[in-house]
Amino acid sequence: MSAVSDVTSSSPAPSLPALDVLIGPGGAGHLAGTRLEVTPREEELAAFYASPPGLHVRANMVSSVDGGAWGPDHRSGTINDAADWRVFRVLRALADVVLVGAGTARAEGYTALDVPRGLEHLRTGRGPLELAVVTRSGHLPASLAGGARPPFVITDEHGAGIARASVPRGGAPGGGPADDTHAGAPRTPQDLPSPTPGPDLRAGLAALTERGLTRVLCEGGPHLLADLLAADLLDELCVTTTPVLVGPGPGRIVAGLPPLVPGAATGPTAGGEMPASADPVRPRLEHLLHAGGTLAARWALR
Ligand SMILES: NC(=O)c1ccc[n+]([C@@H]2O[C@H](COP(=O)([O-])OP(=O)(O)OC[C@H]3O[C@@H](n4cnc5c(N)ncnc54)[C@H](OP(=O)(O)O)[C@@H]3O)[C@@H](O)[C@H]2O)c1
Repeated sequence: MSAVSDVTSSSPAPSLPALDVLIGPGGAGHLAGTRLEVTPREEELAAFYASPPGLHVRANMVSSVDGGAWGPDHRSGTINDAADWRVFRVLRALADVVLVGAGTARAEGYTALDVPRGLEHLRTGRGPLELAVVTRSGHLPASLAGGARPPFVITDEHGAGIARASVPRGGAPGGGPADDTHAGAPRTPQDLPSPTPGPDLRAGLAALTERGLTRVLCEGGPHLLADLLAADLLDELCVTTTPVLVGPGPGRIVAGLPPLVPGAATGPTAGGEMPASADPVRPRLEHLLHAGGTLAARWALR
């Protein structure tokens, strides 16, 4: 994910680069060597990210060359660039709903979303760009509290109670478990409850689908991405690799504990490293675009 400066801005960055097609689409070489010039309508670039009808879950993440998912300020804005921003805007324009973990909503200061300016035609017939936040705690950041367009909240019963309690008077009513509650005010860290079993992500996506929100764009963060992958709910992963080295410290674009595998070691090794997950997932490269050392890859998981 993420914008050059303000993640929620719908304004185009001042100078967006042309993108060279290195591979694809479809992993084929027939468009290799062509160049996607910047156009006001961005239809050519959008065609590279067309998705099939029905529920389609795409994640869009940015990584430094050495695998970091954020920069020294703990935000992804310090590792992305204008090429990433160009793709980011088009992916938002193509989405019905942006899905984020509450950690990302807090770290990146998410607010209600708008379709990137000038790209409204890419979503003809679709509704406004919605935001859905996944949370166990039910606590949303201040930037989302009490706004005129509160987000959908995917949470469990416990989180839904917390979220509903913070809906401002006159706020939209909540839904059922695994939840599409519209929520409001955040709480302080001291208010955070004990960890709970957590929401059913599949049910959450089904609830969005029932509302016609089938084109889901997950903008992270790393814990949510890991959970979507573990539940086999991700159709596609777009990763922009930017020519930046952040060194040790920042995490990867997936985070959390690996799933328990029968017979495998479950704790850290003697070297202090966590065991790897069972079988690596092997996505298929759909296309690879390039500008100034930045590589924008579209990986299909199905
Ligand atoms: N490189 C990139 O493209 C990229 C993209 C996004 C974010 N980031 C960076 O990643 C960092 C944040 O990392 P993160 O892993 O904490 O982000 P995250 O996955 O967005 O946040 C984790 C939090 O989100 C909620 N959550 C995530 N998965 C959940 C699930 N399956 N069920 C219930 N709740 C779930 C929980 O919120 P509660 O605590 O409320 O229960 C959890 O504590 C920031 O520095 C941000 O800048 C980078």
